Amino acid sequence: MQNVTRLCHTKSMVTVNGQYPGPRIVAREGDNLLIKVVNHVKTNISIHWHGIRQLRSGWADGPGYITQCPIQTGESYVYNYTIVGQRGTLFWHAHFSWLRATVYGALVILPKRGIQLFPYPFPKPYKEIPIIFGEWFNVDPEAIVSQALQTGAGPNVSDAYTINGLPGPLYNCSGAKDTFRLKVKAGETYLLRLINAALNDELFFSIANHSITVVEVDAGYVKPFETDIILITPGQTANVLLKTKPHFPNATFLMAARPYATGSGTFDNSTVAGILEYELPSIYSTKNNKFPLFKPTLPALNDTSFAANYSSKLRSLATAQYPANVPQTVDKRFFFTVGLGTNPCPKNQTCQGPNGTKFAASINNISFPLPATALLQAHFYGQANGVYTADFPSYPLHPFNYTGAPPNNTRVMNGTKVVTLPFNASVEIVLQDTSILGAESHPFHLHGFNFFVVGQGFGNYDPHNDPTMFNLIDPVERNTVGVPSGGWVAIRFQADNPGVWLMHCHYDTHNTWGLRMAWVVQDGKFPNQKLPPPPADLPKC
Ligand code: C2O
Repeated sequence: MQNVTRLCHTKSMVTVNGQYPGPRIVAREGDNLLIKVVNHVKTNISIHWHGIRQLRSGWADGPGYITQCPIQTGESYVYNYTIVGQRGTLFWHAHFSWLRATVYGALVILPKRGIQLFPYPFPKPYKEIPIIFGEWFNVDPEAIVSQALQTGAGPNVSDAYTINGLPGPLYNCSGAKDTFRLKVKAGETYLLRLINAALNDELFFSIANHSITVVEVDAGYVKPFETDIILITPGQTANVLLKTKPHFPNATFLMAARPYATGSGTFDNSTVAGILEYELPSIYSTKNNKFPLFKPTLPALNDTSFAANYSSKLRSLATAQYPANVPQTVDKRFFFTVGLGTNPCPKNQTCQGPNGTKFAASINNISFPLPATALLQAHFYGQANGVYTADFPSYPLHPFNYTGAPPNNTRVMNGTKVVTLPFNASVEIVLQDTSILGAESHPFHLHGFNFFVVGQGFGNYDPHNDPTMFNLIDPVERNTVGVPSGGWVAIRFQADNPGVWLMHCHYDTHNTWGLRMAWVVQDGKFPNQKLPPPPADLPKC
């Protein structure tokens, strides 16, 4: 625990090595990482390495009660995994309750050793700067999560967004020392490693008077494109190049982020800002320089067309060096409705959520409570009985028009239900937002895989016409995708990683309400297609 002060509120919070945000991990593609996590706090905890493929190392993935029991007070666990075929920016975060509000940090994967001259498919930047967005709560986030569970109403919103833990100058009681400052040289190119670790909001980000070039998302290169504003959902990362002005500009610049907020929920509509300033040329005296401060313009809170347009620009490189490995044919096809259940429950119906009958968030009307023991262990030892069932409905029980008026039947049921996939099946999932509580964007994250975003659209997915428009050539490859508000997104992946893999909305509110499910990927025939046994120190429940 550590005392941290922001916005004139001091609170004791869970930190890693006393740091907030947590320590930055820098590794290289191909490295084997051994990270010992010792729990010195009163609560249970587990750590997830968000976006790491964890090929046959599911025991190190980290979501509590999915791949491991949480690490209890006084206990420790060594996360042991190898980074295979990935380079770029990812992050790590607590994956238990809402602890990720304070427990998160950057995970930077540099290209393989030996690639010194041309490490990237773009000119080598002068400097690389991690920029992590987060949320600051004046109160203990654990109090908020219990409120979210008990009332079924929207939880308290955060009190500020943060850049590298700092709220910036636009908040009350937040001064210069609580502001992230990036000091740059004129005429250079910087690589900004952007990470959205916020709990519940997608964010627009922009730097006044500077355009940026997007080169990578979720640790996968994309065809570079220039933009003034980026959109980043919780769980997503983006590497962008910032070219500084050729000469000292006689100005400083705000870099700012605020939410892209759809739906009827409450949200924090404030703005976090940092400052971009140029090194003073030697001809300036260091005293009495007053330069104007320029501010960026960010889209309106509900600018869905900006969001759709921005995501359509993301294309993988799809060259021989970094091929887009998108499955061209599909073995298993799924249609998932994603949304919040009714609250209050319609008359004469039973609605359930992980904490009783008050509320629900669901996939195909199933709200997913966490089991009392880890799914991966139950699967590995063949003890699914009483832990999970393999009857996740692959189609909605009661089909309806997802974007129209609320249908009569919105009955949501509890179930720790999974889908079993044979090893190496090629999978397509259409995620359809429902409008039962108002259309809302959901950042969907899949553990254990990258997927390709082959299509997206507004309204109801049309299984006859929409697939003809799918991009099977250079779709973006990622681990988290925003299901469009009032629309759908189609993803494909190859189930080449045996184990149990969580898929969930990366809004902690929705995740807590049950907006999640899990895939059980069976072992393949050959020894190198099987999940090895758990490490000896795997925590017990
Ligand atoms: Cu970043 Cu299941 O999480």
